[in-house]
Order: sequence, then C-alpha cells, then structure tokens
Amino acid sequence: MFFKIRTHTCGELRENNIRENVVLNGWVDTRRDLGGLIFIDLRDRYGITQVVFEPGFDKEAHENAAVLRNEFVISIEGKVRKRPEGTENTVLNTGQIDVMVNKLIILNEAKTPPFPVKDEIDTSEDVRLKYRYIDLRRPAVQRNLLMRHRMYQLVRNYFDANNFIEVETPVLMKSTPEGARDYLVPSRLHKGKFYALPQSPQQYKQLLMVSGLDRYFQIVKCFRDEDLRADRQPEFTQIDIEMSFIDQENIFEIVEGLMKLLYKDISNRDLQLPLQRLTFDEALEKFGSDKPDLRFDLEMVTLNHVFEHTSFKVFQDHVKNKGIITGMLAPGCGEYTRNQLDILTDFVKKLGAGGLIWMRVKDNELEAPIAKFLTDEEKDHLVEAVKAKPGDLIFILTGSRLQALSIMGSLRLEMARRLNLIVPDAEPKLLWITDFPLFEWDEQTKRYYAMHHPFTSPNLEDIEFMETDPGRVRALAYDLVLNGTEIGGGSIRIHNADLQSKMFKSLGISGEEAEYKFGFLMNAFKFGAPPHGGFAFGFDRMAMIFAGVSSIREVIAFPKTASAISLMDDAPSTVSDEQLKELHIKIR
Ligand code: AMO
Repeated sequence: MFFKIRTHTCGELRENNIRENVVLNGWVDTRRDLGGLIFIDLRDRYGITQVVFEPGFDKEAHENAAVLRNEFVISIEGKVRKRPEGTENTVLNTGQIDVMVNKLIILNEAKTPPFPVKDEIDTSEDVRLKYRYIDLRRPAVQRNLLMRHRMYQLVRNYFDANNFIEVETPVLMKSTPEGARDYLVPSRLHKGKFYALPQSPQQYKQLLMVSGLDRYFQIVKCFRDEDLRADRQPEFTQIDIEMSFIDQENIFEIVEGLMKLLYKDISNRDLQLPLQRLTFDEALEKFGSDKPDLRFDLEMVTLNHVFEHTSFKVFQDHVKNKGIITGMLAPGCGEYTRNQLDILTDFVKKLGAGGLIWMRVKDNELEAPIAKFLTDEEKDHLVEAVKAKPGDLIFILTGSRLQALSIMGSLRLEMARRLNLIVPDAEPKLLWITDFPLFEWDEQTKRYYAMHHPFTSPNLEDIEFMETDPGRVRALAYDLVLNGTEIGGGSIRIHNADLQSKMFKSLGISGEEAEYKFGFLMNAFKFGAPPHGGFAFGFDRMAMIFAGVSSIREVIAFPKTASAISLMDDAPSTVSDEQLKELHIKIR
C-alpha cells in the first residue's frame, strides 16, 4: 500500500516543531475516545507521540480513526501544535506537543495482543517467550537490547584500539568435549560422522596464536548441552580473547581496561583499578565459593586451630582427619527462634550437611546445645575468632573441606537474603579469583578432571606434584566475578608438547585418545607455538548484571526456556523421514 515515509520518529517532535506539517509511522500504543475527540499514543522504538483526531480539524480522518485498536500499524499526516494548557505530559519527551491529524492510513491491523505492550505486566514468562516478537516491543526489553548493542560497539572499539583482530572461527567443528555435553550435527556426506557445535573457540584461538596473529578477539556464540539455570543458556555469547607473549598480569590489564570502560559508559560508575584478587583457597575459606558475592561482609572463619586440642568428639574427628570446622557470625541474630533455627538446619541438611551447630552469644556465655562440651577457653577463643558480640548468633559446620565450606557459602547467601544485606543499588563488586586448582577430583568416576580445560598451564612451581600429588597443583587460571556471578574465565596455556602430554597423562587420557581428540592442536604445537593465554567473558551474564535483571533471558532477543525449548518456533522439533534418511539416522 502507498504510504508516506515518516518525516520524524515518534520520539522526536518538540516545541520547536510547532506548526510544522509532519508524517509519523508507528503502532497504536493506546487509544482514548473522548466522545468527539480520539487520542492515539503512537509508538515506535524512539518514543511516543500523542496524535489527535478532531472532527472539526479533519472530519474524514476522525471517521477513519474509529476502527483503530491497540497495535494497529498506521501512518498519519498532521500539524504539530502546542498541547492545550494543563494537558502537557512531563513524563514524555514529546509531552509538550501533539499532532492534529488530517490524514490516516492504516498500514496493518492487529489482533488483540496476548498481553499489553507496556513494562508492568503480570504475564508468565512462557507466554512472553511464545510471543517474543510482541514482548520485544515492550520498552524495558528494548532498553536491554539497546544497552547490549552499545556494549558490542564498545567492545569492538576497545579491542581494535588495543591491536586485537577479530577472526571468525568455525561453528561446525570436531567434537572435543570441554566439560559440558556437545551439541552434535550429523553429516549427510559422511555416514555415521558428526560435527560438534563449539562449546567455545578454545582450540581455534590457540591455533591462531601458533599462526602468529598475536592478539585475537571474537564476539562468538558458544553451545553447551548442560542443565540450564537463570544464568545459563544452551547457546550463549562470549567475548573471547587470546594473546601471545604475555603473562597473567597482561591479561588482567586488558580485561580490567574493558570493564572500566563498560562501567563508565554503561553504568556511569568509576571502577577503581587494579581489582581486588582472592586466591581460590581464600575465597573458599572466607566466602564458601569460587564466585563470592562481596557486596556484603558475612565472612566465614576456619576454626580448626580453635579446637586443636578439644575433647568434643565431633570437632576432634575433623581436626584429626583433614576435615574442616568452619564458622560464621550472624550479627544480631541471637534471638532467632527455635523454629527459625530449624528452618536453617533443614536448609543446610538439604545441601548435604549432617546438621547445623548454632550458639547464641550472651553477655558472659554461649548458649547452645553443644556449649557443655566446650571448655571456657575454647569458647573465649571462638568468640574472639568470629568477633562475636552479645546478641549475635554463631553458626558452625563440620565436614570434608570442600563440602562444608560450600554449604556454609550457601548459608552465607541465605543469611544475606534474610537480613536484606544486598541493598538494591549497592556498589557492584568485581574481583579476580586466582590460583584455581589444576585438577578436580571426581568421587563418582574416581579420577581427576581438568578444572578449567586440559590446555591450562600448571603453575610452574607446582609441576613436580603433577604425578605425586595432583590435588595440590595450582593452575595459572583465573575467573572474573561480579556480584557473585562468574562473568568470565581464562588461563595461561600449555604451549609445549611435552608438558601437554604430561597433563593428558595426569588426566588419565591415553596417548591414543589425546591424539584422536586433540591431535591437531598437539601437532600444531610442534611447529613453533608462542607462550600464550586468554580469557572469555560471558557476554550475556555481563549484560544481565549491567541491565539490573536477574535472568540472562532478559538480555537475549530469542532465548530458550530452562528446558532448552524455543516456545516461539517450537524448536527442537521432529523432522521428516526423508531428512533422517539423508542423514543416515534412525530414531529408536
Ligand atoms: P568458560 O567455560 O569459563 O571458559 O566460559 C567463559 C564464560 O562464559 C560464561 N558461560 C555461560 N554463559 C551463559 N550460559 C552458559 N551455558 C555459559 N557457560 C559459560 C561464563 C563463563 O565465565 N574457553 C574458555 C575461556 C578461556 O580459557 O579463554 C571458556 O570457555 O560467564
């Protein structure tokens, strides 16, 4: 249909346009029919402009406007006027004016949308996702996408200015599981063979360093078939980087530089550099997590030294058998009722703890079921260690180190929630976690796995323990944590074929298996590999935190649900027998 192209967007007209003839195109946001007058709020990405149909101004346009409903797409022509005294809208940028319409063209009608196109709606996320194209009309979601767009531009300019080159890496690659399950793509041409979608471009970016590209970056989709959560999607975006002839400090400097820029530009905050650093061990002992939320204090204290000579059997066992006794102070919670304490006990039990020890701090004593088993000296020492005051509550958990600490870490988060310790506009807390262990023991399969990935370099000081005591080998690996969310991670890589073989050996990966899975990379290292290392930002998670929302789905245009379904287009779906046959696949 013929229509006049807009002269202005719906967010543009101001008082200096008064008396101009204009054309606006957009969606009917709201429609008010006041007897003789029809008011339409016309909406596009840029804003809202009120347009007025008045029979005295144009009879035909007014008559035509009678059929307009929400979300109709229209084009209007009219004259800008100052709004009558007292009807100005100070919330809208265009609120001083409106447009008197003399021509209306309906470009498209619209069914009644399943939910109103406005920010405050009480609609389930499933319905929003099914009609995502309508959901994306809502200003809040558009703001998120605009912010994300701004982030892309800043990222590209930043890396370009720092001599990084953007290189695209394949999406169909060889299956080399990195930790999560691969998404596989069957090959039509090669019966029984599969491509995998990359869990990350890890190996390609290392190969680019062997090729001498020196500094690489890419804003790239990654695919992982893993259990989903609010901050996990099956396909997500990384800002992926790799650098040659560098050490950990150089990578920190580049990453911190980008974060400073994003803080300033997106949130108008000044990020103080260098960032705080915690080793993995410190983070675990003080905050019970390798992604601690430091927006609030609540610090945990390891109490083994306090109970070194205790005759209390439960503590004795853990002191002797490499277990841990960890404590945490809940300030001002000394009056918690038995019921409240039972709820918290259930909370830790569900996470695998045997129970929760608690003590109320009174003026001159500790009131607790276990108090009678402790000496006065131990109690004094405990109060001092956790810095308790009368009126406080002390929690203690015992168990194997990793488990007890991480359960206390969860209790720490739970207490922060109960005590409202995270104020809505709290200063964001960004920090590095360093010195991750190289290996992680898996109790089920009784073997070590690479905690980061098998190309991560051990800390050279610890190489001697790779065979004798793998658990104590530190990796040159680091994570970036923002407000308790891991927003990125990376490592210095192994660039030497011998050390890489040693690593595979420690992981119980045979020479043959390594050759089959990673042969191309190992081979490349024989042709002159520079020392290198890198990092990948979880772009969606960063956008989520910058946007102040609690799910990455809010900053992704077309996300999947927690069960990896796209409700809008119904993916995954069945395919025709013909397609399956071509791919040599039979569904059992
Ligand atoms: P890693 O596996 O730590 O490292 O991933 C980097 C960052 O990506 C984000 N992330 C995710 N975001 C959304 N949904 C997911 N399913 C998901 N999985 C990970 C996290 C994480 O910190 N190749 C290495 C990087 C390197 O060593 O250079 C890698 O992929 O924020």
